[in-house]
Amino acid sequence: MNLSQTRILITGAYGMLASDVIAALREGGATDMVLTDRDDLDILDADAVTLAVADRDVIINCAAFTAVDAAEEQEDLAYAVNATGPGILARAAAAAGARMVHISTDYVFAGDAGAPYPEDAPMDPASAYGRTKAAGEVEVRESGADALILRTAWLYGRGGPCFPKTMVKVGRERGALAVVDDQMGQPTWTRDVAAFMLRLLEGDAPAGTYHATSAGQCSWYDFAKEIVASAGLGDIVSRTDSSAYQRPAPRPAWSVLGHAANEALGIEGIGDWRERWAVAADEVLDGV
Ligand SMILES: NC(=O)c1ccc[n+]([C@@H]2O[C@H](COP(=O)([O-])OP(=O)(O)OC[C@H]3O[C@@H](n4cnc5c(N)ncnc54)[C@H](OP(=O)(O)O)[C@@H]3O)[C@@H](O)[C@H]2O)c1
Repeated sequence: MNLSQTRILITGAYGMLASDVIAALREGGATDMVLTDRDDLDILDADAVTLAVADRDVIINCAAFTAVDAAEEQEDLAYAVNATGPGILARAAAAAGARMVHISTDYVFAGDAGAPYPEDAPMDPASAYGRTKAAGEVEVRESGADALILRTAWLYGRGGPCFPKTMVKVGRERGALAVVDDQMGQPTWTRDVAAFMLRLLEGDAPAGTYHATSAGQCSWYDFAKEIVASAGLGDIVSRTDSSAYQRPAPRPAWSVLGHAANEALGIEGIGDWRERWAVAADEVLDGV
């Protein structure tokens, strides 16, 4: 796919991931992009979606209900945005012959595995948010659209609130941080997800599920140590565990995703989480 000749629609365009997807598409030569968020295109409005999709070649769905804890109380609303809306978009994409890119999450898994989840592992979400995102994947897969489903996790980026910004703000205010050491995952930069998405699109990757996460794995504690070092805050991070941070939605304890699908195609994945953070830190923490 040549991006300079591709007509693109982005939904949820004001979100954290979308901001870097848009920047990467521009850098990759895309010029014909329609950028929409809830105010201009509510993905639940089937008529508006059909119209918006009709003349597009690629639909990138970055719209989502991402408030993980709030979803426990508002599962119907989360389901509408995370499952019904993606289904509407995907069926419209199928009817228009457009390619669809849909973003999903590690929360579709229970997070109790002992080895990285392969792309085709059965989904088994433990939270309301995870259930709604898993249902969204099913809607997209069953729509008949030529769809790439990208699962990502532990996202951080300059374009939104995220863990590194919170660590630096709270670390400066309190001079100490206690961070959980019993949840493992893959901190992932929004810019890297965007670049990975472009490699899949430009490489005409077949429809399917791909894991858009950094290589390697760490705990939130490990990540926090790297963050405060980047911010020059000294040795202020101590370990705690999840029992100290009871939240409405359960967090996956071991949320590590494998990358066999892109590797089998010879499409480069995202680098090691620690190396990528070293590259990202200045940009993400700028102005914090
Ligand atoms: N952040 C993470 O750590 C993380 C981890 C794994 C996966 N993901 C996935 O990555 C994707 C992007 O996440 P993000 O953190 O960039 O999300 P985000 O910043 O919360 O952006 C989502 C955008 O979607 C918009 N939206 C909500 N309902 C909509 C609707 N009905 N129609 C159109 N737009 C609507 C939101 O608008 P409002 O602000 O007005 O609601 C917001 O601008 C999501 O699919 C998310 O599930 C995120």
